[in-house]
Amino acid sequence: MLTWLPELKDRSLMRLASLTDAEMLNLVDLAAQLKARRRAGVRGDLLHRRQIALIFEKSSTRTRNSAVIAARDEGGDAEYLTRPDIHFGKKESVKDTARVLGRIYDGILFRGFAQQTVEELREYSGVPVWNGLTDDFHPTQILADLLTMKESFGTLEGLSVAYVGDGRNNVANSLMHGCAKAGIGYTCCAPAALRPDEKMLAEAEEIARRNGSPVRVCEDPKEGVRGANVIYTDVWVSMGEEAKTEERIRMLRPYRVDMDLMRATGNADGRLIFLHCLPAFHDSSTEATRETGALEVTDEVFESKYSKVFDESENRMHTIKALFVSALNSREAV
Ligand code: CP
Ligand code: NVA
Repeated sequence: MLTWLPELKDRSLMRLASLTDAEMLNLVDLAAQLKARRRAGVRGDLLHRRQIALIFEKSSTRTRNSAVIAARDEGGDAEYLTRPDIHFGKKESVKDTARVLGRIYDGILFRGFAQQTVEELREYSGVPVWNGLTDDFHPTQILADLLTMKESFGTLEGLSVAYVGDGRNNVANSLMHGCAKAGIGYTCCAPAALRPDEKMLAEAEEIARRNGSPVRVCEDPKEGVRGANVIYTDVWVSMGEEAKTEERIRMLRPYRVDMDLMRATGNADGRLIFLHCLPAFHDSSTEATRETGALEVTDEVFESKYSKVFDESENRMHTIKALFVSALNSREAV
Protein backbone atom coordinates (compact mmCIF):
# COMPACT_ATOMS: atom_id res chain seq x y z
CA MET A 1 0.00 0.00 0.00
CA LEU A 2 1.46 3.37 -1.00
CA THR A 3 1.56 6.17 1.54
CA TRP A 4 -0.69 8.86 0.13
CA LEU A 5 0.59 12.45 0.50
CA PRO A 6 -2.53 14.63 0.13
CA GLU A 7 -0.67 17.76 1.23
CA LEU A 8 1.40 17.56 -1.96
CA LYS A 9 -1.55 17.34 -4.37
CA ASP A 10 -1.23 20.01 -7.10
CA ARG A 11 1.98 21.31 -5.55
CA SER A 12 4.99 22.68 -7.45
CA LEU A 13 8.62 22.32 -6.40
CA MET A 14 10.78 25.41 -6.85
CA ARG A 15 13.39 24.66 -4.18
CA LEU A 16 13.62 22.33 -1.18
CA ALA A 17 13.02 25.16 1.26
CA SER A 18 9.46 25.43 -0.11
CA LEU A 19 8.65 21.96 1.31
CA THR A 20 8.22 21.35 5.02
CA ASP A 21 10.82 19.00 6.47
CA ALA A 22 8.16 16.29 6.82
CA GLU A 23 6.96 16.75 3.22
CA MET A 24 10.51 16.33 1.93
CA LEU A 25 11.13 13.19 3.99
CA ASN A 26 7.71 11.75 3.06
CA LEU A 27 8.54 12.18 -0.63
CA VAL A 28 11.74 10.21 -0.10
CA ASP A 29 9.76 7.44 1.61
CA LEU A 30 7.13 7.41 -1.13
CA ALA A 31 9.95 7.08 -3.70
CA ALA A 32 11.30 4.06 -1.79
CA GLN A 33 7.84 2.48 -1.94
CA LEU A 34 7.49 3.21 -5.66
CA LYS A 35 10.94 1.71 -6.24
CA ALA A 36 10.01 -1.51 -4.42
CA ARG A 37 6.73 -1.63 -6.32
CA ARG A 38 8.48 -1.30 -9.69
CA ARG A 39 11.07 -3.93 -8.67
CA ALA A 40 8.14 -6.23 -7.94
CA GLY A 41 7.12 -5.79 -11.56
CA VAL A 42 4.21 -3.38 -11.10
CA ARG A 43 3.69 -0.74 -13.76
CA GLY A 44 0.63 1.05 -12.45
CA ASP A 45 -1.87 3.66 -13.38
CA LEU A 46 -1.00 6.41 -10.93
CA LEU A 47 -0.47 8.94 -13.74
CA HIS A 48 -3.09 7.56 -16.11
CA ARG A 49 -3.39 9.95 -19.09
CA ARG A 50 -1.43 12.66 -17.25
CA GLN A 51 0.56 14.77 -19.74
CA ILE A 52 3.79 16.42 -18.65
CA ALA A 53 5.80 19.04 -20.58
CA LEU A 54 9.58 18.94 -20.12
CA ILE A 55 11.11 22.30 -21.02
CA PHE A 56 14.90 21.99 -21.18
CA GLU A 57 17.29 24.90 -21.83
CA LYS A 58 20.30 22.81 -20.72
CA SER A 59 21.35 19.23 -21.54
CA SER A 60 20.40 16.25 -19.41
CA THR A 61 20.72 12.49 -19.30
CA ARG A 62 19.31 11.57 -15.89
CA THR A 63 16.63 14.22 -15.32
CA ARG A 64 15.13 13.99 -18.79
CA ASN A 65 15.01 10.20 -18.91
CA SER A 66 13.82 9.91 -15.32
CA ALA A 67 10.94 12.27 -16.01
CA VAL A 68 9.88 10.52 -19.22
CA ILE A 69 9.99 7.05 -17.72
CA ALA A 70 8.40 8.13 -14.43
CA ALA A 71 5.41 9.38 -16.41
CA ARG A 72 5.21 6.43 -18.83
CA ASP A 73 5.63 3.78 -16.14
CA GLU A 74 2.42 4.94 -14.53
CA GLY A 75 0.33 5.42 -17.65
CA GLY A 76 1.14 9.07 -18.36
CA ASP A 77 3.33 10.70 -20.99
CA ALA A 78 5.94 13.43 -21.30
CA GLU A 79 6.95 15.70 -24.18
CA TYR A 80 10.55 16.96 -24.39
CA LEU A 81 10.75 20.59 -25.52
CA THR A 82 13.99 22.51 -26.00
CA ARG A 83 14.25 26.25 -26.69
CA PRO A 84 14.64 25.86 -30.48
CA ASP A 85 11.54 23.61 -30.53
CA ILE A 86 9.20 26.22 -29.13
CA HIS A 87 9.01 30.03 -29.07
CA PHE A 88 9.98 30.05 -25.40
CA GLY A 89 11.31 33.40 -24.23
CA LYS A 90 12.11 34.62 -27.76
CA LYS A 91 9.07 35.11 -29.95
CA GLU A 92 6.78 34.41 -27.01
CA SER A 93 7.27 35.47 -23.40
CA VAL A 94 7.70 32.95 -20.59
CA LYS A 95 4.41 34.21 -19.17
CA ASP A 96 2.50 33.56 -22.42
CA THR A 97 4.17 30.17 -22.94
CA ALA A 98 3.21 29.24 -19.38
CA ARG A 99 -0.41 30.17 -20.02
CA VAL A 100 -0.50 28.14 -23.25
CA LEU A 101 1.21 25.01 -21.91
CA GLY A 102 -0.85 25.14 -18.72
CA ARG A 103 -4.01 24.76 -20.87
CA ILE A 104 -2.59 21.68 -22.60
CA TYR A 105 -0.52 19.84 -20.00
CA ASP A 106 -1.15 18.63 -16.46
CA GLY A 107 2.33 19.60 -15.25
CA ILE A 108 5.63 21.14 -16.39
CA LEU A 109 9.19 20.20 -15.47
CA PHE A 110 11.72 22.90 -16.27
CA ARG A 111 15.51 22.79 -16.54
CA GLY A 112 17.38 25.95 -17.38
CA PHE A 113 19.27 29.01 -16.32
CA ALA A 114 17.32 31.56 -14.30
CA GLN A 115 15.38 30.56 -11.17
CA GLN A 116 13.01 33.38 -12.13
CA THR A 117 11.96 31.46 -15.26
CA VAL A 118 10.76 28.41 -13.34
CA GLU A 119 9.00 30.68 -10.85
CA GLU A 120 7.25 32.51 -13.69
CA LEU A 121 6.14 29.20 -15.21
CA ARG A 122 4.64 28.28 -11.86
CA GLU A 123 2.97 31.63 -11.42
CA TYR A 124 1.23 31.71 -14.80
CA SER A 125 0.70 28.11 -15.98
CA GLY A 126 -1.90 27.13 -13.38
CA VAL A 127 -0.45 23.59 -13.19
CA PRO A 128 2.26 22.08 -10.95
CA VAL A 129 5.77 23.06 -12.07
CA TRP A 130 8.92 21.26 -10.93
CA ASN A 131 12.45 22.63 -10.95
CA GLY A 132 14.66 20.15 -12.80
CA LEU A 133 17.75 22.35 -12.21
CA THR A 134 18.40 26.06 -12.47
CA ASP A 135 21.56 28.07 -11.87
CA ASP A 136 20.54 28.31 -8.20
CA PHE A 137 18.97 24.98 -7.21
CA HIS A 138 18.63 21.29 -8.08
CA PRO A 139 15.96 20.06 -5.65
CA THR A 140 14.97 16.82 -7.40
CA GLN A 141 18.61 15.69 -7.29
CA ILE A 142 18.73 15.97 -3.53
CA LEU A 143 15.56 13.87 -3.08
CA ALA A 144 17.45 11.08 -4.88
CA ASP A 145 20.56 11.69 -2.77
CA LEU A 146 18.58 11.41 0.46
CA LEU A 147 16.98 8.18 -0.75
CA THR A 148 20.44 6.79 -1.57
CA MET A 149 21.74 7.74 1.88
CA LYS A 150 18.76 6.13 3.54
CA GLU A 151 19.24 2.93 1.53
CA SER A 152 22.96 2.87 2.37
CA PHE A 153 22.70 3.52 6.11
CA GLY A 154 19.13 2.51 6.94
CA THR A 155 18.45 5.94 8.42
CA LEU A 156 19.29 9.59 7.86
CA GLU A 157 19.57 10.28 11.55
CA GLY A 158 23.02 11.14 12.82
CA LEU A 159 24.62 11.23 9.36
CA SER A 160 27.25 13.74 8.36
CA VAL A 161 27.77 14.89 4.74
CA ALA A 162 30.88 16.64 3.41
CA TYR A 163 30.46 18.37 0.07
CA VAL A 164 33.83 19.03 -1.60
CA GLY A 165 34.31 21.47 -4.51
CA ASP A 166 32.29 24.38 -5.89
CA GLY A 167 30.36 25.24 -2.73
CA ARG A 168 28.04 27.77 -4.30
CA ASN A 169 26.54 25.89 -7.23
CA ASN A 170 22.97 24.61 -7.66
CA VAL A 171 23.67 21.13 -6.27
CA ALA A 172 25.63 22.48 -3.29
CA ASN A 173 22.84 24.95 -2.44
CA SER A 174 20.11 22.32 -2.54
CA LEU A 175 22.22 19.71 -0.75
CA MET A 176 22.96 22.18 2.06
CA HIS A 177 19.25 22.93 2.48
CA GLY A 178 18.22 19.28 2.11
CA CYS A 179 20.70 18.12 4.77
CA ALA A 180 19.62 20.86 7.15
CA LYS A 181 15.97 19.87 6.67
CA ALA A 182 16.75 16.19 7.24
CA GLY A 183 18.82 16.97 10.36
CA ILE A 184 22.00 15.75 8.64
CA GLY A 185 25.27 17.52 9.50
CA TYR A 186 26.67 19.40 6.48
CA THR A 187 30.19 20.64 5.85
CA CYS A 188 31.05 22.53 2.69
CA CYS A 189 34.75 22.16 1.80
CA ALA A 190 35.53 24.90 -0.71
CA PRO A 191 38.05 27.66 -1.39
CA ALA A 192 37.04 31.11 -0.09
CA ALA A 193 36.02 32.30 -3.57
CA LEU A 194 33.56 29.42 -3.93
CA ARG A 195 32.06 29.30 -0.46
CA PRO A 196 28.24 29.30 -0.31
CA ASP A 197 26.38 32.53 -0.89
CA GLU A 198 25.80 34.17 2.52
CA LYS A 199 22.02 34.31 2.11
CA MET A 200 21.80 30.60 1.17
CA LEU A 201 24.06 29.75 4.09
CA ALA A 202 22.01 31.81 6.55
CA GLU A 203 18.84 30.02 5.39
CA ALA A 204 20.49 26.62 5.91
CA GLU A 205 21.76 27.64 9.35
CA GLU A 206 18.30 28.69 10.41
CA ILE A 207 16.76 25.38 9.30
CA ALA A 208 19.62 23.38 10.86
CA ARG A 209 19.26 25.16 14.20
CA ARG A 210 15.68 23.98 14.33
CA ASN A 211 16.79 20.40 13.68
CA GLY A 212 19.88 20.49 15.86
CA SER A 213 22.36 19.65 13.10
CA PRO A 214 25.55 21.59 12.28
CA VAL A 215 26.26 23.50 9.03
CA ARG A 216 29.93 24.32 8.52
CA VAL A 217 32.17 25.80 5.84
CA CYS A 218 35.82 24.76 5.79
CA GLU A 219 38.65 25.65 3.40
CA ASP A 220 40.83 22.67 4.26
CA PRO A 221 39.27 19.57 2.66
CA LYS A 222 41.10 17.07 4.89
CA GLU A 223 39.89 18.83 8.01
CA GLY A 224 36.39 19.37 6.60
CA VAL A 225 35.71 15.72 5.76
CA ARG A 226 36.68 14.39 9.20
CA GLY A 227 33.88 12.19 10.54
CA ALA A 228 31.84 12.38 7.31
CA ASN A 229 29.69 9.42 6.25
CA VAL A 230 29.08 10.84 2.79
CA ILE A 231 31.65 12.51 0.55
CA TYR A 232 29.79 14.35 -2.18
CA THR A 233 31.22 16.21 -5.12
CA ASP A 234 29.98 17.76 -8.35
CA VAL A 235 31.60 19.11 -11.52
CA TRP A 236 33.91 22.09 -11.03
CA VAL A 237 32.29 24.00 -13.89
CA SER A 238 28.51 23.97 -14.07
CA MET A 239 26.52 24.30 -17.29
CA GLY A 240 26.63 27.91 -18.45
CA GLU A 241 29.96 28.67 -16.73
CA GLU A 242 32.25 27.15 -19.36
CA ALA A 243 34.27 30.39 -19.70
CA LYS A 244 35.52 29.85 -16.14
CA THR A 245 36.98 26.39 -16.82
CA GLU A 246 40.71 27.17 -16.45
CA GLU A 247 40.26 29.33 -13.35
CA ARG A 248 38.11 26.63 -11.69
CA ILE A 249 40.56 23.84 -12.42
CA ARG A 250 43.33 25.96 -10.85
CA MET A 251 41.21 26.75 -7.78
CA LEU A 252 39.75 23.31 -7.20
CA ARG A 253 42.72 20.97 -7.83
CA PRO A 254 43.31 20.59 -4.06
CA TYR A 255 39.65 19.53 -3.69
CA ARG A 256 39.75 16.47 -5.97
CA VAL A 257 38.23 13.48 -4.19
CA ASP A 258 40.78 10.66 -4.00
CA MET A 259 41.34 7.74 -1.64
CA ASP A 260 43.46 9.88 0.69
CA LEU A 261 40.50 12.20 1.18
CA MET A 262 38.15 9.26 1.71
CA ARG A 263 40.54 7.93 4.39
CA ALA A 264 40.68 11.37 6.01
CA THR A 265 37.05 10.90 7.08
CA GLY A 266 38.22 8.30 9.61
CA ASN A 267 35.27 6.17 8.51
CA ALA A 268 35.40 2.94 6.56
CA ASP A 269 33.13 0.55 4.70
CA GLY A 270 29.63 0.46 6.13
CA ARG A 271 30.00 3.99 7.54
CA LEU A 272 31.15 5.81 4.39
CA ILE A 273 29.86 6.31 0.84
CA PHE A 274 30.75 8.49 -2.14
CA LEU A 275 28.05 10.39 -4.06
CA HIS A 276 28.11 12.53 -7.20
CA CYS A 277 25.05 13.84 -9.03
CA LEU A 278 26.79 13.02 -12.36
CA PRO A 279 27.95 13.55 -15.06
CA ALA A 280 31.47 13.24 -13.58
CA PHE A 281 34.95 13.97 -14.84
CA HIS A 282 36.87 10.98 -13.46
CA ASP A 283 40.06 9.72 -15.13
CA SER A 284 38.47 7.45 -17.69
CA SER A 285 35.25 9.38 -18.34
CA THR A 286 36.16 11.48 -21.40
CA GLU A 287 38.90 11.75 -24.02
CA ALA A 288 40.13 14.91 -22.27
CA THR A 289 40.35 13.39 -18.79
CA ARG A 290 42.03 10.27 -20.19
CA GLU A 291 44.87 12.65 -21.17
CA THR A 292 44.84 15.12 -18.28
CA GLY A 293 43.68 12.83 -15.47
CA ALA A 294 40.64 13.19 -13.23
CA LEU A 295 39.11 16.51 -12.31
CA GLU A 296 36.76 16.28 -9.30
CA VAL A 297 37.08 12.52 -8.54
CA THR A 298 39.59 9.79 -9.30
CA ASP A 299 38.66 6.48 -10.93
CA GLU A 300 39.86 4.79 -7.76
CA VAL A 301 37.03 6.40 -5.77
CA PHE A 302 34.43 6.49 -8.54
CA GLU A 303 34.78 2.74 -9.17
CA SER A 304 35.27 1.78 -5.51
CA LYS A 305 32.94 -0.10 -3.17
CA TYR A 306 32.17 3.26 -1.53
CA SER A 307 30.66 4.68 -4.70
CA LYS A 308 26.86 4.65 -4.85
CA VAL A 309 26.62 6.92 -7.89
CA PHE A 310 24.58 4.56 -10.03
CA ASP A 311 22.09 3.82 -7.26
CA GLU A 312 21.86 7.59 -6.93
CA SER A 313 21.21 7.95 -10.69
CA GLU A 314 18.50 5.30 -10.63
CA ASN A 315 16.92 7.02 -7.65
CA ARG A 316 16.41 10.15 -9.76
CA MET A 317 13.62 8.25 -11.52
CA HIS A 318 11.90 6.98 -8.39
CA THR A 319 12.01 10.36 -6.65
CA ILE A 320 10.77 12.29 -9.69
CA LYS A 321 8.00 9.72 -9.95
CA ALA A 322 7.12 10.37 -6.30
CA LEU A 323 6.82 14.09 -7.06
CA PHE A 324 4.65 13.56 -10.16
CA VAL A 325 2.45 10.99 -8.43
CA SER A 326 1.89 13.06 -5.31
CA ALA A 327 1.00 16.17 -7.33
CA LEU A 328 -1.04 14.64 -10.16
CA ASN A 329 -2.37 11.34 -8.96
CA SER A 330 -6.12 10.99 -9.04
CA ARG A 331 -7.19 9.00 -6.00
CA GLU A 332 -9.32 6.71 -8.16
CA ALA A 333 -6.12 5.46 -9.80
CA VAL A 334 -4.48 4.35 -6.54
N1 CP B 1 22.36 14.81 -12.17
C1 CP B 1 21.68 15.30 -13.20
O1 CP B 1 20.85 16.19 -13.08
O2 CP B 1 22.02 14.73 -14.38
P1 CP B 1 21.55 15.22 -15.81
O3 CP B 1 22.25 16.54 -16.07
O4 CP B 1 22.03 14.14 -16.74
O5 CP B 1 20.07 15.38 -15.82
N1 NVA C 1 26.23 21.70 -11.10
C1 NVA C 1 25.99 20.91 -12.27
C2 NVA C 1 24.96 19.87 -12.02
C3 NVA C 1 24.67 18.96 -13.18
C4 NVA C 1 23.64 17.93 -12.88
C5 NVA C 1 25.57 21.82 -13.41
O1 NVA C 1 24.74 22.72 -13.18
O2 NVA C 1 26.06 21.65 -14.52
